[in-house]
Amino acid sequence: KKVVVAYSGGLDTSIILSWVKENYECEVVACCVDVGQGKELEGLNEKAKKTGASKSYIIDAKKEFVTNYIYPAIKVNALYENKYYLGTSLARPIIAEKIADIVKKEKADAVCHGATGKGNDQVRFELAFKSLIPNVKIIAPWREWNIKSREDAIDYAKKRDIPVPVTKAKPYSSDANLWHISYEGGVLEDLENEYNESMFKMTVSPEKAPDNPTYLTIAFEHGIPVSIDGNKFAPVELITKLNVIAGANSIGRTDIVENRLVGMKSRGVYESPAAAVLYAAHEELESISIDRDTLHFKQLLAHKYAEIAYYGLWFSPLREALDAFINETQKYVTGSIKLKLYKGNIIIVARQAKYSLYSEKLATFEKDEIYNHKDAEGFINLWGLPTKVQAMLRKSE
Ligand code: ARG
Ligand code: SIN
Repeated sequence: KKVVVAYSGGLDTSIILSWVKENYECEVVACCVDVGQGKELEGLNEKAKKTGASKSYIIDAKKEFVTNYIYPAIKVNALYENKYYLGTSLARPIIAEKIADIVKKEKADAVCHGATGKGNDQVRFELAFKSLIPNVKIIAPWREWNIKSREDAIDYAKKRDIPVPVTKAKPYSSDANLWHISYEGGVLEDLENEYNESMFKMTVSPEKAPDNPTYLTIAFEHGIPVSIDGNKFAPVELITKLNVIAGANSIGRTDIVENRLVGMKSRGVYESPAAAVLYAAHEELESISIDRDTLHFKQLLAHKYAEIAYYGLWFSPLREALDAFINETQKYVTGSIKLKLYKGNIIIVARQAKYSLYSEKLATFEKDEIYNHKDAEGFINLWGLPTKVQAMLRKSE
């Protein structure tokens, strides 16, 4: 029997490697998917083997994460509960996708992940596996074993000579990738506690941000960001660079109480600097490039799309159908937006759209040739006809 384990090199998944081997009496293959978590991936293969894996893979999925997951989210402006840029929700399906490939390649009998039994991630992993490798058994050790605390975990590791990472007690449950870092648990569980400044890794506080604003211009082609200040960047580089620029201006922090799929409300603090800037610029460009009805309809779908991603339904016919619609709406979303970043604020400065629907001639308060003020009278009379009829018939009683 063979099991592929989603592996990160941390304490939890190290223990999982050895626990699965012991309890399922099987061969274990470790698989780590790099979505820009920036953790030490060097030496990971050796560590996995030392912990009992017969084989270990590190898969670089950064580019695909950007082009197949982050780009669609930008085109939609998908935000869960109006605030969360979905960094973890978008990463889980691509991690599952890459692990499913290894499961097939290795002809494994089962796949195993390290998400707890109380969160969203277990749902996202398992729905992806059900969709991609429907006949493969799924093992979720957190729902089976008796390890309840970090102390239990360290105990377990020491007894079995599993290398324990030399990190301090983990104060937060955290997840990092190209699109964000999340923080949950610990002192954040008390809603009356302000978050601790020292927690953040991508952003400085507004107090520490520079006193002079940073200007930058982001260009898009068909809804996809392609350049910063006229310089073209490859997908991963563009996001990485924006994270640095925006993070230095304290952009992209959010502190929210969100509804988890499994039912409870949970406090989450996020830093997603590039995401905040790209959404702001993209939305601005859309406002001039997309006609009113399409834009409003698209805005209705954004909420639904975020739910689909958050709820683990990435691999679903509805998400694919929505992408087809959204791609159609992005046909004319080409142009550039100039922004000013200043102490946590994103200020729109200038807009340029290749297929702009904005006509200065039409909008002007000065004299123009296209718009006839007299037409408005008839328009208002007909638009207001039901209103007038209701008022007349009902009031006269
Ligand atoms: N609450 C966020 C979400 O559900 C972040 C989850 C972070 N996951 C983690 N394993 N730390 O998308
Ligand atoms: C976890 O349970 O592994 C993290 C939190 C979540 O998935 O929501």
